[in-house]
Amino acid sequence: MSDDKKQRAAAAALAHVRPGMTLGLGTGSTAAHFVKLLGDQGFEGQAIPTSEETARLAEAVGISLITPDETTRIDLAVDGADEADPSGALIKGGGGALLREKIIAQQAQTFIVIADDGKDVVQLGQFPLPVEVTGFAVGLTIQAIRSTLAALGYEDPSLTLRRGEGGFFQTDGGHLIVDIALGRIDEAEPLDAALTMIPGVVTTGLFVGLTDLMIFGTESGVREAV
Ligand code: 5RP
Repeated sequence: MSDDKKQRAAAAALAHVRPGMTLGLGTGSTAAHFVKLLGDQGFEGQAIPTSEETARLAEAVGISLITPDETTRIDLAVDGADEADPSGALIKGGGGALLREKIIAQQAQTFIVIADDGKDVVQLGQFPLPVEVTGFAVGLTIQAIRSTLAALGYEDPSLTLRRGEGGFFQTDGGHLIVDIALGRIDEAEPLDAALTMIPGVVTTGLFVGLTDLMIFGTESGVREAV
């Protein structure tokens, strides 16, 4: 079952935690397993959550939290992913926490991805790419995204403004998310760079060059990849 695999990956990541560390805590169901296990083992350190949801869970299991502005160093960040390719490039943001997750992953000394082995893909892109955008001029930003994608050779992909309860989904930072069905992403880094150049784009769910270790939960254990 995928939830058991997520739990196995989360449990394996605990081996990288040391007392006194400052941790980045990811968001989503796999990261939630990690947070619960960390709380259960009585973590002696401090942590920065990447979402309000993770903050609530971490507090509930007794993890001491700080804000990002209370530290200059994050020793280790542990987070889930929607897709991970063999180079460690990721699609993230299925849970809508991509901006905070990316800031923390990028600043962490070590970034570990935990996921069930269904997230281990040869090529990114089957999972729709989340792109966080400002609410201001969202229509113009979507138009600019379309033009950028066309210039990169992505023929007429479907772009959907994500919906949540009672309207459009809003991130913890008050932004919106456009999910882009690309089918396949040939080169993640230039795509990320081109989309991020658009002023109304806050960030994309492409995490390139950030991953130090991937831990995939399998039927019988875990598989690690760097
Ligand atoms: C949230 C994320 C999650 O890490 C990603 O969606 C994976 O979630 P899950 O562990 O529930 O499969 O990027 O923004």
